[in-house]
Amino acid sequence: MTTVRFLTGITTSGTPHLGNYVGSIRPSVRASLAANVESYYFLADYHALIKIDEPARIQRSTLEIAASWLAAGLDPERVTFYRQSDVPEIPELTWLLTCVTGKGVLNRAHAYKAAVDKNTASNLDPDMDVTAGLFMYPVLMGADILMFNAHKVPVGRDQIQHIEMARDMANSFNHRYGEHFVPPQAEIEESVATLPGLDGRKMSKSYDNTIPLFAPREQLKKLIAGIVTDSRAPGEPKEPEGSALFQIYQAFASEEEAQALRKAYADGIAWGEAKQVLFERIDREIAPMRAAYEDLINNPAKIETILLAGAAKARQRATPFMAELRHAVGLRRLGEQTKADKKKTVKTALPNFKQYREADGRFYFKLVDAQGNLLLQSLGFASPKEAAQTIAQLQREGESALTVHASHLQPTVGDARQVVAALALLAAGN
Ligand code: TRP
Repeated sequence: MTTVRFLTGITTSGTPHLGNYVGSIRPSVRASLAANVESYYFLADYHALIKIDEPARIQRSTLEIAASWLAAGLDPERVTFYRQSDVPEIPELTWLLTCVTGKGVLNRAHAYKAAVDKNTASNLDPDMDVTAGLFMYPVLMGADILMFNAHKVPVGRDQIQHIEMARDMANSFNHRYGEHFVPPQAEIEESVATLPGLDGRKMSKSYDNTIPLFAPREQLKKLIAGIVTDSRAPGEPKEPEGSALFQIYQAFASEEEAQALRKAYADGIAWGEAKQVLFERIDREIAPMRAAYEDLINNPAKIETILLAGAAKARQRATPFMAELRHAVGLRRLGEQTKADKKKTVKTALPNFKQYREADGRFYFKLVDAQGNLLLQSLGFASPKEAAQTIAQLQREGESALTVHASHLQPTVGDARQVVAALALLAAGN
């Protein structure tokens, strides 16, 4: 069975709202419960520095978001749950990725472009009040994802571009330095990826139209009462299409419940009554978690312990991987030399082995001839070291090693003599 790695982060810049819950927290927690998944969830506090210069707010938001995820059922034993700034390998990787990312690519990133467009429209200097942090944001996000070689990243639509950029970073790093990264994919929950807010626009802190996830019951009710509707009176038929209230309901309701409200709209349900239905439905899902949330919020030390344990777990992976990446780019102890380097200089003239990692997390190699035609293909190894040792033996011993390692190789498709000849050539070349 192959394991799929999920990873997602929430910027610690505010209080979690229903949009975060529906678009990120809930699908993430659900996904983490599935078999054969390995999940990484983190508090993106370095990202928060891009938008916020109030230290107390960042700290408070970190607490609230951590408490929200835990209250929503995230099990820190089962997943890796950490705070971004507790993993120093992430900013370190950010620099390596910065050096393989085109500046022109970053010029096109939505967040940066929006800021520039806004300035330009107001006849201001295009980069007025734009920090380099905002400009570099996609690279930091790329590092978040690639640090753990996540396969799937559950995000809202507005983040798809960043995942594509992370794919590009993975590919361009791999192209230069060998296969180290798995290009990630965005995972969108189609029906409910973005939730409308109180004013009908996307629910977002920046529009000030949010409903806090753990607002007390009474406040939740009041906020829902404030969702925009039109002026149609009770008894007049209403359409669910374009109704923020209906869309929010849909994000919580079952198919049957949504169908029932659809019918009630057609039958002319009063807006006030529809709001009551929405309130009860949301509260039914949230109320049990609210109690857990209150308990956690009042116990920051408990959350701190959980986060530090999560960071230690994350670093079990990040630290050795970072060492591998440093080595790959040439940040090495002096005196070290690698086969890969030697290979590079003779690459065009000789057949060569390519080592890489697949989405299944296993390590593979193949032997290609000077023109790049596939001669030999391995099966998956548990570690890069095993793969490398097998390659070394094939290079040293040629044909006889083929038999020894037959169980780790795919049956040769083409001419077996070509394989033997290529190995002989390599042995001579070394
Ligand atoms: N930028 C994301 C947001 O604003 C948060 C985030 C940071 C993230 N790093 C990430 C999400 C890595 C997914 C993966 O919503």
